[in-house]
Amino acid sequence: MVTISAIKADVGGFVGHGAVHPRLIGEAERRIGEAIAQGLLLDGRVSSCGDDVNMVMTHHHGVDADVVHHFAWDAFVAMTAIAKELHLYGAGQDLLAEAFSGNVRGAGPGVAEMEIAERVSEPFVVFAADKCAPGAWNLPLYKMFCDPFNTAGLVIDSKMHAGFVIEVHDLIDRRRALFHCPEQMYDLLVYIGTPGRFVVKHVFRRDDPDQPVASSSTSRLSLIAGRYVGKDDPIMIVRAQNGLPAVGEVLEPFAAPYYVAGWMRGSHNGPLMPCGLQDATPARFDGPPRVVGMGFQLADGCLVGPRDMLGDVSFDRARGIALEMADHMRRTGPFEPSRLPAQDMEYTTMPAVARAMEGRWEPIPDTAPIVATP
Ligand code: 13P
Ligand code: 13P
Ligand code: MG
Ligand code: MG
Ligand code: MG
Ligand code: MG
Repeated sequence: MVTISAIKADVGGFVGHGAVHPRLIGEAERRIGEAIAQGLLLDGRVSSCGDDVNMVMTHHHGVDADVVHHFAWDAFVAMTAIAKELHLYGAGQDLLAEAFSGNVRGAGPGVAEMEIAERVSEPFVVFAADKCAPGAWNLPLYKMFCDPFNTAGLVIDSKMHAGFVIEVHDLIDRRRALFHCPEQMYDLLVYIGTPGRFVVKHVFRRDDPDQPVASSSTSRLSLIAGRYVGKDDPIMIVRAQNGLPAVGEVLEPFAAPYYVAGWMRGSHNGPLMPCGLQDATPARFDGPPRVVGMGFQLADGCLVGPRDMLGDVSFDRARGIALEMADHMRRTGPFEPSRLPAQDMEYTTMPAVARAMEGRWEPIPDTAPIVATP
C-alpha cells in the first residue's frame, strides 16, 4: 500500500494574496529532498496556486500519520520564517494552531490523502484552487462520478456501470453520510448543492469500497478560528482510468466554469478559472478564483510528473468564458449575488454599522409617508 498526501497552506503572499515567493518553494523542496533521503517520504513535489503552497507526497505511513503531518507542519513553519523575513503578506496566515499537536487537520492547512494499492498503471490528478471554499469541488466531483454527460464511461465502461459511493461531510453539524449513486443522486444533490455546508470528502468504487478514488480537503478556516482568516483554498486527489473516469473525464468539468464563493476578501462569488501552473497568480479583484491540475503517474510509489493538465490549449475557451463571467459579476459590485449573502461573508462591517444606525430605524406606518428631516 502507498499513501498519497496532498497538504497545502498559505504562509504568506507575494504580492498581497497573489502568489508564493520562490524562496518558500525552495525551502519546501529542500525539506522534501531531506525527508526522501531519510526514508520518511518516498517522493514529493512542491507547487503553488495563488498564495497557497501545495506539497504532494508519497509514503508508507498511511493517512493522518503523525510523522508526515509533523513534517508538513515544520515545513510550513520554516516557510513562515522566510515569509516574515521578506515581510510577505499574511505570513503564517493558515497556521491557526500555536504548535503542532499530532495532526494538521483542524490546525489550518488543507489535507487530502488516500491510501491505495498501486495499480499496474496509476494515473491521478491533484487539483488545487485559490480564492474559494472547499465546496468548490462538489460540482466537478458530481460530474466526474455521477454525470454520464460528463463521463461517458458511466454508460459504456462495464467496470464503471455500477456507479460510485459519495461520502459527504456536514461541516456545521460535523456528521457524514454515504450516497450510493446513481440511485441516490437526487438525495445527494439536495445536500451538495449547498457547498458552504455540505462537502464531498471521498468517493469510492461500489465494487471495491475499501479503495478511495477521490479525496478532498474540507477545512473551513473561519469555523476553526471563529474569525476571518482568509479563504480555505481546497485541494483534492482524483485517480483515473481503468474502471475510473478517464483523465479527460476528470478534467472535463473545468471546461465549463462555474461560480464559487471566495474571490476578493473571501466575500464574493466568482468564476473558477482553470489555468496552467504559471498562470495561477490571481490579480484582478484578487482573482478570479483559480484551479490548477497536476497530473502524475505513480511508479512504485514514486511520482512521475507533474504534467500541467489545465494549462492545455483545450481550456483556453474556458478561460475566456470565466473572464466574461468575472466581468458580469464585477458590474454589481457590493450587491448580491456578486457579494455573498450576509451570513456567508468572511468579514463584514454589519455589526458596527448596525450599532451606528440604532435609533435611525422606525416602524413603517400604515399610511403616512416618511418625512426627511434636514
Ligand atoms: P488512445 O487510442 O489514444 O490510447 O485513446 C484511448 C482512449 O480511451 C481515450 O479516451
Ligand atoms: P487567501 O485565502 O487566498 O489568502 O485570500 C484572502 C483574501 O482576502 C483575498 O482577497
Ligand atoms: Mg493569503
Ligand atoms: Mg489562498
Ligand atoms: Mg486562503
Ligand atoms: Mg493510449
